[in-house]
Order: sequence, then C-alpha cells, then structure tokens
Amino acid sequence: MLLSGFPLFFHKNPVFCIICVERRDFMDDTIIIRGGNRLEGVIDLQGSKNSSLPILAATVLVDGISVIHNCPELSDVGAAIKILEHLGCKVKRDGNDLTVDSRFVNACSIPDSLMREMRSSIVFLGSVLGRTGQARLSSPGGCEIGLRPIDLHISSLRAMGVSVDESRGCISCKKEKTHKDTVISLTFPSVGATENIILAAALGKGRTVILNAAREPEIKDLADFLCGCGCKVELTGHGTVTVDAVERAHGTVHRVIPDRIAALTYLSAVAVTGGDVLIKNTDTSHYQTVLPFFERAGCDITDSVDRVRIKMNRRPLALRDIRTMPYPGFPTDAQATMMATACVARGTSVIVENIFEGRFKHVGELVRMGAKIKLEGKVAIVDGVEALYGTRVACPDLRGGAALVVAGLCAKGVTQIGTLSHIDRGYEKLEQCLKNIGADIERCKGK
Ligand code: UD1
Repeated sequence: MLLSGFPLFFHKNPVFCIICVERRDFMDDTIIIRGGNRLEGVIDLQGSKNSSLPILAATVLVDGISVIHNCPELSDVGAAIKILEHLGCKVKRDGNDLTVDSRFVNACSIPDSLMREMRSSIVFLGSVLGRTGQARLSSPGGCEIGLRPIDLHISSLRAMGVSVDESRGCISCKKEKTHKDTVISLTFPSVGATENIILAAALGKGRTVILNAAREPEIKDLADFLCGCGCKVELTGHGTVTVDAVERAHGTVHRVIPDRIAALTYLSAVAVTGGDVLIKNTDTSHYQTVLPFFERAGCDITDSVDRVRIKMNRRPLALRDIRTMPYPGFPTDAQATMMATACVARGTSVIVENIFEGRFKHVGELVRMGAKIKLEGKVAIVDGVEALYGTRVACPDLRGGAALVVAGLCAKGVTQIGTLSHIDRGYEKLEQCLKNIGADIERCKGK
C-alpha cells in the first residue's frame, strides 16, 4: 500500500522506488530522516546498555539496596527490570537513576515470556544461581545476529560444580554446597560467559579463576559494582579474572560507564554528514583503538578523558581493513555503523566480521539505499558511492538499525526506517540527540 502524503521518489530510479514503497508498509512507529544536514553541537552521552544489563542482574546478589546512576531508559533495561520484579526485587526509576531493593528475592525461576523479551537475560542465570543456589530459566536460543550458543556458560558452571540440566529449551541449575576452587579456561573470551561465571562465583565459598576472560570495559564495570557491594573480584589484566567468594553482598551506589557503542554511532553520523560535534560524558579510553579509523577516513578527532570532538569537512576516505575482534579490537557492535560510513567513502573498504555469523543483515537494506556492497562469507567489500538515496528500510537488528539511521542522515531525499523496536533496545532518545545537533529527523506514530 502507498503512503498518502509521503513523497515517494527518493531514489534516482523512480521504478525502483515504487517497488520499494509498495513492498513495505510499516504498522509500527517509523523514523523519518531528510538527509543532508551537517551536524553541529554537543551530545550528552547515554550510559552503557551492555553495562547496565549485567549490573542489574548483579543486584540480585545483593542483600540490600543498590542505587545505579546513569542507567539509560531502554526497552532492554525495561525487560531487565521486569525480571528483577518477578524475582521479588523492588525497583524505582527516577530519570536515569534506578534503586533496586533486593532484600526479599523470593524466586529462582524466570518464565519464558520474560526471558524472550531480551536476549541478554541469560546473564540472570549466574546471579539467580549465586543468590538462591539454584536457577531455572528458558534457553535464550538464537537471535537476529546469529545462533548464539551458550555452551561456554554451561560448561563453565559445570566446572564450578554446578549441576546443569538442559531439556526441552529449559535450563535448570543447582549449586553444590561445597564449592571447590576452580580454574576455568575459556576457549573464546565470551562477554556473557565471563559475566555469568563472575556472578555465579561471587557468593559462597572458594576461589574461581577465569583465564582468557573477556576484557570489555563492561566486565570491569560489573567487577567495580560487585566490589562496591563487598564482593572480591579482581581483574588481573591480560584476561585473567579472580573471584573470591564472600558470604554476603551489601548495597552500594554505582555509576554505569558511558556507552562506547553509542559514542561510535554518533561519530559515524558526523563522519558521513560532515560537521563539528562534541560528545560529552564519554570515556575515550574505551575506544582508543577505533578512533584511528575515523582519522583514516579524514575526520579531525580531538579527545580528552571524557570527551571527544569530531570535525569533518569532506567526503570520507575508504576504511580499508576493518576486522571485528574481542576487546580491545574493533567492536562488532560498531561494524554496521562503520559500514554505513564506508558506503559513501571515496574508494573500497573491506570489513571482516569475526564475532557473529549473522551480522550483515543491514547490507541488504543499505543496498536498497544505493550502496554497493558484495558479501563473501564473513567479508564485506564496500565500494563507496557518491551518494545514498532515501527509501523505506527496516531495522534488521539493533546496530544494523543504527547503521540505517547513519545512512539516512547523509542520503539524498527521505529515508523512512521501520521496525524501531530494535533501535529502542539500545539507543536512548536517539532522534532527540540527533535533532539537537541539526539532523532533520522525527519519529512518526504507526497506524
Ligand atoms: C555481548 C554484547 C554484544 C556484543 C558481544 C560481543 C551484551 C548485552 N551484549 O554479547 O552487544 O556484540 O558481547 O562483543 O553485553 N559464543 C559461543 N558460546 C558461548 C558464548 C558465546 O560460541 O557460550 C560465541 C557467540 O556465538 C559469538 C561469540 O562467542 O559468536 C561472542 O559472544 P559473546 O562475547 O558471548 O557475546 P554476548 O555476551 O552474547
């Protein structure tokens, strides 16, 4: 069905555009971007989604009240709050401050309906197990970006003496009374597995050492929160984590770290539109290895500890060789938005996705906007074009959706982006942030 009152011919080929418009009709909210505006101004960065979720899970371990500042208002955070409430916690939100009273945790199982609201709810496995000695929840299964197995979580818990039963999509775990000291050597530095092991090991008895643990800043943030609660979690560098279990965790006040992926999304936005933007309340040490890619693209970057300024006055240059890797390598979560930058760069960029097998779903949507991208397995070859063209596209996943926003900001004409539930999982007030720095962007209510 055609949208009445909505300009249709954004693509240089009108026939192509009519087909696109007829093929899709969004019933839910859409973001509409009139591309081409330079971006100028200041962004006050949101707190980290990927830190907030494990820290909220960690509050289950606390026999007391936790106050968490800088916790963004996101649908994933909302899903985590629902799980906390189901477990018997009382949660209050005041702006970006959350108070979680976990004194009366009274459940050890999480129903399938709550687990399904958020893929990362698997992180509650470790904390519920740690607090109650047992946990029963449904298996998270795959999602938009891949199969996402949890074998490392399960084998690590077993190594810690936890009995685990997996049947009919349900995981039941029971912690043994006597916890022996354990050394777990991860075959891959999985973020979620590292978090689950830390959470499962924090209370009780014994020492757990994780070798080849994930080194993402969000792991340190989780450890800092737990240490604030009286737990003993030490990150000894080079991916070794030592957890000495304590009898009890008490309440604390904690500030979630800034969201490094949101910062990189906004940097990509300015890289494609041109402009001069200052991002405040960030932590540039979390993405020092990524900033050189923006410099290589021709951006002028100046950074201090908690702010980064990007100036861009030209068409981006090709990004050449981007390979996603565990931290401190190039983050898989920034691959899609960086690809949007490569789409309009002068020259050919090569992007290799090493972390998730299904993380190129944005490619098809970018191609609809006029991008020239070839996919060969986990390699994307992006031939930069002079311009992208607005059309109707749908977010394939969270970061793929952000990539479409970046593309829309520089596209000629109007881009209409649907399936926003993905974006709302991870970006707080995305349209407002971009509007504040000069983007012509708005959210329209669905039918
Ligand atoms: C977290 C982040 C996500 C990010 C990812 C990689 C959160 C809420 N999500 O996801 O945004 O993209 O880290 O930086 O913090 N794997 C296994 N077996 C396992 C566990 C993982 O094979 O038991 C594989 C995964 O399929 C994937 C890779 O390891 O291919 C990385 O996964 P992992 O680091 O665990 O990512 P998540 O914690 O799911």
